[in-house]
Amino acid sequence: MEKICIISASVRKGRESHKAALYIRNLLKDKYRIEARLLDLMTYNFPLFEERLKYLESPSAEIMDFAEKVRESDGVIMVVPEYNGGYPASIKNIIDLLTDEWRRKPVAFVVVSNGHFAGSQVIFALQFSLWKIRALTVSPALRIADIETSIDGDGIPADKAGMDRNASSTINELLWYIEARRKMA
Ligand SMILES: Cc1cc2nc3c(=O)[nH]c(=O)nc-3n(C[C@H](O)[C@H](O)[C@H](O)COP(=O)(O)O)c2cc1C
Repeated sequence: MEKICIISASVRKGRESHKAALYIRNLLKDKYRIEARLLDLMTYNFPLFEERLKYLESPSAEIMDFAEKVRESDGVIMVVPEYNGGYPASIKNIIDLLTDEWRRKPVAFVVVSNGHFAGSQVIFALQFSLWKIRALTVSPALRIADIETSIDGDGIPADKAGMDRNASSTINELLWYIEARRKMA
């Protein structure tokens, strides 16, 4: 079975985008029979980036745990809210922290906002940073608009059929990349 990590990026009190991470976890379980690991950056509570893991003298247990989970995953889904047209510092923190762990790692995006444009702008910044670190970025991203009302607190979308259809396009593509990469191993 594929090992997939879902990284929930928002560390904001009262955050909304975490509901999208719960939704993706549920969909992977119910439709794809994949038990994804949820890596919640709010729980990890990493300090502001100072240096890459490979140069840290005594990395914390949390950093080691996070790096290990990314390293052993076949693919990653990042759930990222749009802040001022870009990504939150929490996600740059963990992109910069790791190096080889990202290399050729298939990474799909779920971008979220509370507006109608569904965090579309954050895709550019995410795509570029992940490309720079040599990850395999997956298109299309799942774009979730109006997050306050489009998904409830249990991760259930208001329009489940529609969101499942869009999310499946992203997940199917991620699974294709995972399979392709496996064939090249
Ligand atoms: C600092 C900040 C900047 C924001 N900038 C944008 C933006 O550029 N575009 C947008 O559509 N929504 C923006 N929003 C609204 C967010 O989409 C909304 O607050 C969403 O719930 C954020 O995800 P979170 O609740 O998980 O933190 C911004 C929110 C914050 C807190």
